[in-house]
Amino acid sequence: MPTFTINGISLDVPEGMTVLQAAETAGIEIPHYCYHPKLSIAGNCRMCLVEVEKFPKLQIACNTFVTDGMVVKSNTEKVRQAVTGVLEFLLINHPIDCPICDQAGECGLQIYYMKYGLHRSRFAFEDKVHKKKVQDIGGQIILDAERCILCSRCIRFLDEVTGTSELEFFQRGDHSEISIFPGKPLNNNYTGNLADICPVGALTSKDFRFKCRVWMLRGAKSICPGCANGCNVEAHFKEDILYRLQPRRNDKVNQTWMCDPGRLEYRKANEGRLLTPAVREQGGLKAEAWEAALSAVSFRLWETVEKSGSDSVAVIASPAFSNEELYLTRKLADEVLRTPNLGFSPRTSGDGFSDDFLIKADKNPNTRGAQLLGISGEKFEDIVRKISDGEVKALLVFGNEIADFPEEKTGELLAGVPFVVQIGTNEGSVFRAAHAILPSASFVERGGTFTTHEGRVQRFWMGFPPRGNARSGIEIITGLANRLGAGWKFAGEASVFRAIAQSEAPFSGMSYESLGESGQIAGGKG
Ligand code: SF4
Ligand code: SF4
Ligand code: FES
Repeated sequence: MPTFTINGISLDVPEGMTVLQAAETAGIEIPHYCYHPKLSIAGNCRMCLVEVEKFPKLQIACNTFVTDGMVVKSNTEKVRQAVTGVLEFLLINHPIDCPICDQAGECGLQIYYMKYGLHRSRFAFEDKVHKKKVQDIGGQIILDAERCILCSRCIRFLDEVTGTSELEFFQRGDHSEISIFPGKPLNNNYTGNLADICPVGALTSKDFRFKCRVWMLRGAKSICPGCANGCNVEAHFKEDILYRLQPRRNDKVNQTWMCDPGRLEYRKANEGRLLTPAVREQGGLKAEAWEAALSAVSFRLWETVEKSGSDSVAVIASPAFSNEELYLTRKLADEVLRTPNLGFSPRTSGDGFSDDFLIKADKNPNTRGAQLLGISGEKFEDIVRKISDGEVKALLVFGNEIADFPEEKTGELLAGVPFVVQIGTNEGSVFRAAHAILPSASFVERGGTFTTHEGRVQRFWMGFPPRGNARSGIEIITGLANRLGAGWKFAGEASVFRAIAQSEAPFSGMSYESLGESGQIAGGKG
């Protein structure tokens, strides 16, 4: 392990580390644009210059590898002047766009200008080279070519990650310009990542731009609910509106990337939400207080069991719910309603598209969790048959749709059940057929864990309290169970997870602390 010194601090670093990476481990920032931890080294922005003892000239930290005994300085006047000079050079032809640029607030040029620049421009405004602005280049991206600093991160992403190579530099000198090839727009499922990795406002998100200034947003660590891959994300919100999802680094799951469909999953937390408990009376929905709605639903469930037996009640669980909620769903079915009719509803959403990178055909975040908790997918077919045969008199449906059934099929199926309760987040085919609605919190309005397709149990955190009068699934299930005499004393998701870790073998020994931010494989380590 080489020992090297930076700004007087001695460090032992792993073999093969660059000076820039080693400095990061010591908490020393070396400014950079073209370096990205998950892309090859280009070394073209020249912002990361440092002094290396015995080298006559400044070196770029992103492509200088640490050797034993190396002495580096990043805080000298010589380095400061060089970095300021590079920044001035990069800004020579940059437009005066900050007030109208959607990158403002998270722009690498703004940030480094304040830290390392603060120079007066020596370049006349009218001499700036202008390039094309506001171009829709396909996917989720708008290109503003004159804001580009030619760092090539976007080109390397499309060459090395998606392998689709849609972007390239054209022209020479200060007329160099990033662009797609004529008539060949971005054509891959990961275009949104370009807006994340572009350090300036050249590539911005078509969906997010001009919706909200970034300094007004707060973030919560979360998991994309769009498929079984469980990409780690940061959910950005203002008050109770979710504005965007951005990938959060987890080298064991998604590195630093996420797919385009997953990026738009945030919309479901805002649109068509169920926000207040309601019961259907004479064809119309009547809003109810939680106490009244939970009492009415639990009374109907009790009455059905009394009159027609436990077998006449069925529960369709949802693999979009957390491990904690699924565990309580199983307890409700097994121990309180004592019904054998519990299964989860599989869902692929449309064509069930998948690829060999991140996107999985299973469009649920927690199918594996449901399976590991002993909730069967096969049982679902059995429940559907019993409903069709008129054997089910009361049905609890978790989620907004039943499997991939079209609206009419769900309507026909549920029309035969005298009492249908939906515990879900959004309007949909179940909502239109349900007799009682118990609105549940979206993924950013509650905390818990999901289990990925490979069995990795990962935490997601609450960003803001449930919108309107919605409640977490844990509160709703516990509310029903206790009205039916269960006497449960769960206080939030942590207490439910402790119970899971104690009683469910695949989760044995896990805790929220041991899961940390990158998760743990159920039944093993890693
Ligand atoms: S568009 Fe952005 S990421 Fe691409 S080269 Fe220009 S500055 Fe770099
Ligand atoms: S691959 Fe799946 S989990 Fe990852 S971002 Fe896309 S939809 Fe979300
Ligand atoms: S980060 Fe080193 S040259 Fe760009």
